[in-house]
Amino acid sequence: MPDVDELKEAKKFYTDRPQKTEGFFLKFSNSLDWGMKNRLSRIFNPVSGRTVMLAIDHGYFQGPTTGLERIDLNILPLVPYADTLMLTRGILRSIVPPATSKSIVLRVSGGTSILKELSNEQIAVDIEESIRLNVCAMAVQVFIGGEFEKESIINMTKMVDIGTRYGIPTLAVTAVGKDMARDARYFRLATRICAELGAHYIKTYYIDEGFETVTASCPVPIVMAGGKKIPERDALTMAHNAVQQGASGVDMGRNIFQSEDPVAMIQAVKAVVHDSESPDKAFDLYNTLKNQK
Ligand code: R5P
Repeated sequence: MPDVDELKEAKKFYTDRPQKTEGFFLKFSNSLDWGMKNRLSRIFNPVSGRTVMLAIDHGYFQGPTTGLERIDLNILPLVPYADTLMLTRGILRSIVPPATSKSIVLRVSGGTSILKELSNEQIAVDIEESIRLNVCAMAVQVFIGGEFEKESIINMTKMVDIGTRYGIPTLAVTAVGKDMARDARYFRLATRICAELGAHYIKTYYIDEGFETVTASCPVPIVMAGGKKIPERDALTMAHNAVQQGASGVDMGRNIFQSEDPVAMIQAVKAVVHDSESPDKAFDLYNTLKNQK
């Protein structure tokens, strides 16, 4: 207890300085509660307003895919360069050191495998686990146009409701069926549905034509999914275009961990996202880092 016998008279009121009401840096997230904002600020860098999320959750439906066979050996060296790790509770508990200061986005939908219909997911993680694991957001797959479209949307809205109780944001991950058109009209539809129904931010794919209309019509931040492995220079160009066209960062997996040099690649992606580096300069950085070894 402070000593109350000899109280000094308080006088530093700065009456000539009006108190500031500061807005929140992240697109359309100003009305969220303190805990939500604090968690989002651990995912998105408040200086650049963007994030480099490293997605390594692929095993939840496809097992040990290329590059993720040994997360302890292949992925842990990348962690220092990421803002956030997106992964399952199994990998988090078994492999990621609890002393990490990186924010965690936890995959909470699942229940399917590549052997069956992928859209038939449910919520596969209790909210208590997300709280216990101190996560900064929960990721739910949403299959707009998929066989289990409604169920996947309701999975997401349930997590929005439950997460809001505890100040944990929900990331909607838009999944596109193999036979569906990947165009601006589809992604505007998918991202807008997720945002209207409460997702706090949305992960979606980049498209060459009209991506800026997807980010413009979505009232919450969008992060770009990497998609299948393409040449490093092309992946850096894609990430560059996405952030220049309104994405608040990337959530990339295969184009980082399947790169010839994943440690160099994640640093080049970081330069594109946080420093708005050009694809040419980022590719030079990639080569320089790669050749240093
Ligand atoms: C897939 O369902 C997972 O959510 C992955 O995190 C996602 O596909 C992003 O990884 P990639 O950049 O490899 O597409």
